[in-house]
Amino acid sequence: MNKINRIKEEWEGRSEGYLKEYNPIEIDYGPGVPNENKLNIIGSVKNKKVLDLGCGGGQISIAFAKKGAKVTGIDLSDKHIEFAKKLAKKHKVKILFERGSFQKFPMIKSKSQDIVFSSWAFLYSPDLKQVFKEANRVLKNEGLFVFSQDHPFFHCFGNNDLEIKQSYLKSGSAGNPNFMAFRRTISEIFNALKESGFNVEKIIEPKSKWYARWKDEKYFNKKKIEMLPTTIIFKARK
Ligand SMILES: C[S@@+](CC[C@H](N)C(=O)[O-])C[C@H]1O[C@@H](n2cnc3c(N)ncnc32)[C@H](O)[C@@H]1O
Repeated sequence: MNKINRIKEEWEGRSEGYLKEYNPIEIDYGPGVPNENKLNIIGSVKNKKVLDLGCGGGQISIAFAKKGAKVTGIDLSDKHIEFAKKLAKKHKVKILFERGSFQKFPMIKSKSQDIVFSSWAFLYSPDLKQVFKEANRVLKNEGLFVFSQDHPFFHCFGNNDLEIKQSYLKSGSAGNPNFMAFRRTISEIFNALKESGFNVEKIIEPKSKWYARWKDEKYFNKKKIEMLPTTIIFKARK
């Protein structure tokens, strides 16, 4: 099985639990991280064409649409796309949700988008440079590319003992050996952006807030949340 098919299978398998999680309708950058209303990284999206890569259950796409953007969401999971379509109907917004991979999205025309966005999805990309080149292709000149992903430090440390479990310097898995994911260093991501034709305007490492509802979750440890960023955000321009 190729990597993308395996990742799809893994997401379809955990989809039910994932979609039950509390995902608010907002432009969200990651667990406990201040949202776009607070960070103001993107600014006004009114009448802008926005492409949301790895859109999951569609909550962020819907938030963009409610702010006046014309949104397309792409996700690998049939279940997530089905859920997103229903949710958009419930929220009375029109969004084009496409089932597909963010590795290549030929259905999106070159130079057609004002903003390409992604939240916590690129960790699952086996070839990040290919994704960045596609993002660059579909963006209009000076278009904005904003994405967040798991902070690479976050997965280097264990959840219970906070010991360093894997080398930051070596790209590799992302904590959970049962799921295929690709952790990369900050310089790898930065350099891949430059090599794909982007100017990086900002890197943001916001402090996450601890939620009491995480107390029974293995993934989030209070001390870890206090001491390490869960998320890194890149703002780049074509
Ligand atoms: C952690 S979820 C984030 C979902 C959404 N962006 C959010 O923040 O609510 C990661 C998403 O990436 C999707 N995904 C993983 N690999 C993908 C790929 N190659 N192409 C498109 N979507 C992918 C998964 O199906 C999943 O919905």
